[in-house]
Amino acid sequence: MNRRVVIDTDPGLDDAVAILFALASGRFDILGLTTVAGNIGLERTTSNAGGLLAVMDRSDIPVISGASTAMLRDNIDAIVIHGVDGLRGITLPPTTVTAQTGAVEWLAETLLTAPSGSIDILALGPLTNIGRLVNEHPEAAGRIGQLIAMGGAIVEPGNAGPASEFNFASDPEATAVVLRSDIKTTIVPLDVTRRVRADRAYVEALRGSLAGDTAADILTAYLLDDKQSRPLHDPCVMLLAVAPDLFDIEIHRLSINLGDGPDAGALTDSETGTPVAVAMRVDVQGALDLLSSGLR
Ligand code: RIB
Ligand code: CA
Repeated sequence: MNRRVVIDTDPGLDDAVAILFALASGRFDILGLTTVAGNIGLERTTSNAGGLLAVMDRSDIPVISGASTAMLRDNIDAIVIHGVDGLRGITLPPTTVTAQTGAVEWLAETLLTAPSGSIDILALGPLTNIGRLVNEHPEAAGRIGQLIAMGGAIVEPGNAGPASEFNFASDPEATAVVLRSDIKTTIVPLDVTRRVRADRAYVEALRGSLAGDTAADILTAYLLDDKQSRPLHDPCVMLLAVAPDLFDIEIHRLSINLGDGPDAGALTDSETGTPVAVAMRVDVQGALDLLSSGLR
């Protein structure tokens, strides 16, 4: 039984590989891609989402743009990693379908008209859309089956600040709203995603299909500055959704830094924190094998 999912995303090179896996693997019934500003601005993340659907001839799947800014803060970006176009120069076919606007309202309507618990949200970027859904449409948010979100760092150092991870640092307030909500949530932090890495041999072995060739092109661009390997952050969300047994989940009581310093958005274990399911370990080879098999 395919999982009915909405992918909330800021593509973004690793988002793109995650989306290609979701499209090619045949394991997901994708109801829509909702976009958010993150790695780069909303216009580019939305255009890139449409381009990925066009590559796979899936323009039947709607793209709905969402938040262009974080709830309360100025945007940060990851252009240094993803480039000004979000895909480091990889060109995708022009999108044949115009993106809709109003992702939060679209999410609410979609959730309210589907059986409660029948739709999962796979979140690959800042949680602004989901946080706004909780605040503005709590009844709809309560009908989410489960939320799997790439974000945070527990023991692992951060990639936005010393201890803060980019998605959660981009919108700490939205992250706090989501983690404090009743949504059944599992986060996939850097502690796991930095272990699931693609090197050049792995990338080249992906080639041989449309999805595999496209993912290999994207990952080659992601191997920037002659890096030997790159972390597959967002694909880990898809892999957890279809193969949870590859991951070890722990419950951590988490507080989130809502200050204005370099570690805004950082997570800390605390007795007074909110209990959150956190993927802390992964069968790395199993994850890499599943990703490559799903892209074939
Ligand atoms: O910290 C990694 C996360 O930030 C990934 O989702 C990547 O795409 C960026 O959005
Ligand atoms: Ca992302």
